[in-house]
Amino acid sequence: MYLLWSNFNLGRDNKIYLMRLEMSYYVRGKLELNNKPLDKIAILEFDLDENMSCKPGQYIMAWLPNYGEIPLSPSICDDRKLQLLVEDVGATSNKFVNLEVGSYAYFRGPFGNFFDLSRGNKYLLVAGGTGAAPILMAARNLSKLNAEVITIYGGKSRKHLVFLEDFNKYSKKVFAYTEDGSFGYSGVVTKDLQNVISSFLPEVILTTGPEMMMRKVVETSVRNKIYCEASIVRIIKCASGVCGSCVLEPQGLLACKDGPVFSGEVLINSNFGKTMRSESGKEVEIK
Ligand SMILES: Cc1cc2nc3c(=O)[nH]c(=O)nc-3n(C[C@H](O)[C@H](O)[C@H](O)COP(=O)(O)OP(=O)(O)OC[C@H]3O[C@@H](n4cnc5c(N)ncnc54)[C@H](O)[C@@H]3O)c2cc1C
Ligand code: FES
Repeated sequence: MYLLWSNFNLGRDNKIYLMRLEMSYYVRGKLELNNKPLDKIAILEFDLDENMSCKPGQYIMAWLPNYGEIPLSPSICDDRKLQLLVEDVGATSNKFVNLEVGSYAYFRGPFGNFFDLSRGNKYLLVAGGTGAAPILMAARNLSKLNAEVITIYGGKSRKHLVFLEDFNKYSKKVFAYTEDGSFGYSGVVTKDLQNVISSFLPEVILTTGPEMMMRKVVETSVRNKIYCEASIVRIIKCASGVCGSCVLEPQGLLACKDGPVFSGEVLINSNFGKTMRSESGKEVEIK
């Protein structure tokens, strides 16, 4: 166990006291496997010093000393095993993607809410690219609950569909889409969404992936009056509701605490898929 001590305090008796400003602590993990299907994408498996139990959609803060700490949603987080799907988009994710087996990283959490798996028995899961990790955990848990699961899974190419075999294991049917046509149906993941909804008639739709893709899924679900949840990505800095960096507007909801999972009704009336706050706090367009 590694406690996060955030500050020092010089007491009246001139002794230095540690002030604990935050209760979270780090669990150490040793990298057991780094599977890189592509240069910029890695499936990492850590053996943790102690158990962290996450529900699907929750995130952990993953820290590499000297580099940085980033939020990631695990695909497996149980029995001291942590599996992460990481895409190299910047400084810290690059270090994680290229981490050598036997190296250590540190994790705190889990944080945030999670997908509601008790809303029905027929689930349509829609996963795009590296957003697939929490949806895979949902698929696994739903199969344990004997729910009927249909999955639509899309990526740029066959190599990007890194969890295809796993989704096949936990779903009654998987519709695979690749943008370059190298596997399954050619096109984006939302291409035939309406047709799949009309033939499968799901009670619940869960989605993760690029925000514009999720916006389409949410709009289609709302139009079809089907309960929907999406896990959104915002700039998470404090992970404890203090800095406001991850705000969903105009409701003022915080992705780090109130989310990252929100219902379609909340998202459809928000800036989801339109704008978000950048690292500096400026409102920027989502492309
Ligand atoms: C709840 C949640 C779950 C996530 N799960 C995954 C996952 O399973 N796999 C995965 O590859 N990525 C995931 N991400 C995104 C991941 O956190 C960012 O890609 C990462 O923080 C980028 O940091 P960097 O230092 O590598 O890049 P930077 O150079 O700091 O930034 C590169 C890009 O990442 C975005 N970004 C930067 N910092 C953050 C931050 N703290 N939070 C969110 N976005 C940020 C920036 O807008 C920028 O476009 C998740 C994000 C959130 C909020
Ligand atoms: S990350 Fe600081 S309030 Fe959400």
